[in-house]
Amino acid sequence: MDQSQKPLVQASSIVKKFGGFTALNQVDLIIYPGERLGLIGPNGSGKSTLVNCISGMLKIDGGSVQLRGEDITQLATHARVHAGIARSFQIPKPFKSMTVIENIQVVINFAGHLRSEADDHRTHEEKALSIIQSVGLMNKADAISSSLTQVELRKLELARAMSANPQLLIADEALAGLSGAEVDEILELIMGMKAKGISVLMIEHIMSAVMRFSERLMVLVAGSKVADGDPQDVISNPEVIKAYLGE
Ligand SMILES: Nc1ncnc2c1ncn2[C@@H]1O[C@H](COP(=O)(O)OP(=O)(O)O)[C@@H](O)[C@H]1O
Ligand SMILES: [Mg+2]
Repeated sequence: MDQSQKPLVQASSIVKKFGGFTALNQVDLIIYPGERLGLIGPNGSGKSTLVNCISGMLKIDGGSVQLRGEDITQLATHARVHAGIARSFQIPKPFKSMTVIENIQVVINFAGHLRSEADDHRTHEEKALSIIQSVGLMNKADAISSSLTQVELRKLELARAMSANPQLLIADEALAGLSGAEVDEILELIMGMKAKGISVLMIEHIMSAVMRFSERLMVLVAGSKVADGDPQDVISNPEVIKAYLGE
């Protein structure tokens, strides 16, 4: 990562409350262009809430979110997708009754064309097929989504996120419930985003995957950031060890 670059995303002093409960307490988060940032923390520590605040799914109660130096705090989710933020996994789910390629085309029609290069004259079908190929789903392009296996569904999710032509991919528990070999396969695809210049924010419980993935690692505990830095340093930080062992 090149920290001399301007941040892609800069969230400052994020506060999120659910009724009287403070889920996020003044959390700062920076992501640089092309960077792979891991986000870990015990269950209920606010990881999904934080990425929902960045994707716009949740309105914040304090702080600000900037994308490429512009304030996007008031932008709705769909406008943030257009601006380059793609949240994948957990939601939104693919349309089960559509084929794989139809699912991709929906997203390309919605968002993908907006920031694609002017000299990209491919049809939407050609773009869809090239994305499907890049995640290794070519043999399932015309399959109904409801017939896909778990790992194929993750590939479809990833392909849908790619179809929005994002600068930031948010992967919230993309590896949950997969077998060892499947974890490797999906992790490989997510790590490959870097070569396309895409930043990835990954929330993950499988520590071997987190350590392989992360160029920087951030830790949330009970809605507060307790560590942020070199992954090896972070996991040997006494406060982080205590948070995990003290559960
Ligand atoms: N929509 C919501 N309404 C009320 N409480 C919520 C809501 N979403 C999350 N929470 C609470 O906020 C805390 C953080 O949740 P979450 O961000 O999902 O944690 P994590 O993803 O780290 O497991 C939890 O205590 C959870 O119960
Ligand atoms: Mg979560």
